[in-house]
Amino acid sequence: REMPWRKKWIDPQTFPGSEEELQNTLAKRAYEVWVSEIMLQQTRISTVIPYFQAWMDKWPTVQDLSKANHDEVLSVWKGLGYYSRATRLHQGAARMVFENDRNCPIPSDAEALQGFPGIGKYTAGAISSIAFGMAEPVLDGNVIRVLIRQLGLYVDGKDKKSSDVLWKVADRLVKHVSGYPGSGNSDVPGKWNQALMELGSTICTPRPKCEECPIRKTCRSYAEGEALLEKRTVLP
Ligand code: ADE
Repeated sequence: REMPWRKKWIDPQTFPGSEEELQNTLAKRAYEVWVSEIMLQQTRISTVIPYFQAWMDKWPTVQDLSKANHDEVLSVWKGLGYYSRATRLHQGAARMVFENDRNCPIPSDAEALQGFPGIGKYTAGAISSIAFGMAEPVLDGNVIRVLIRQLGLYVDGKDKKSSDVLWKVADRLVKHVSGYPGSGNSDVPGKWNQALMELGSTICTPRPKCEECPIRKTCRSYAEGEALLEKRTVLP
């Protein structure tokens, strides 16, 4: 599905411009992924699109956002709700630009990304994989549902012990499909992660449309019977 923050992949190895242009391009891509992922938390895609575009018109780069006026940030966010998301985005941009005075102040490493305001394990994995092509996992409610059903698990995905295991599963999978080791800097990790999220939000929904599912042949829950599917995400 097309979304304004989904751009054609640029391979750093074959990038035609200068190193500075490459870093600016990567920074732009990472900034767009970051803003879109924060806006998409608790908000649907169709609502986010006009806000995303207004935001990018106002602050096209992370450097622009870092210098923004906070009241203006809140006013552009107005209507999206959960204003602390906007505040942390603004603080995060300011801290990154302050700490990393270079063309691309946004780290590519999921580990380094975590800890900036508003960036947890999910957002770090999304930026690292989608913008920088690193084999890092993402796990949100949609991915949790896909993995639990595909593997036929009887666990509560919100439970800490279960989600620790699911993070490891997601990590193994994204590294596997990316040809790990020897992976990184390709569009595979980002495409994989976004495909899992999209499958969970469109087909493998709480009431799943299994007949439309491209991976039902390998789905353990499907094999065991659709009637069970609704109960799949909780302990028996
Ligand atoms: N939901 C949140 N982020 C998403 C993304 N990058 N692709 C698809 N669905 C999403």
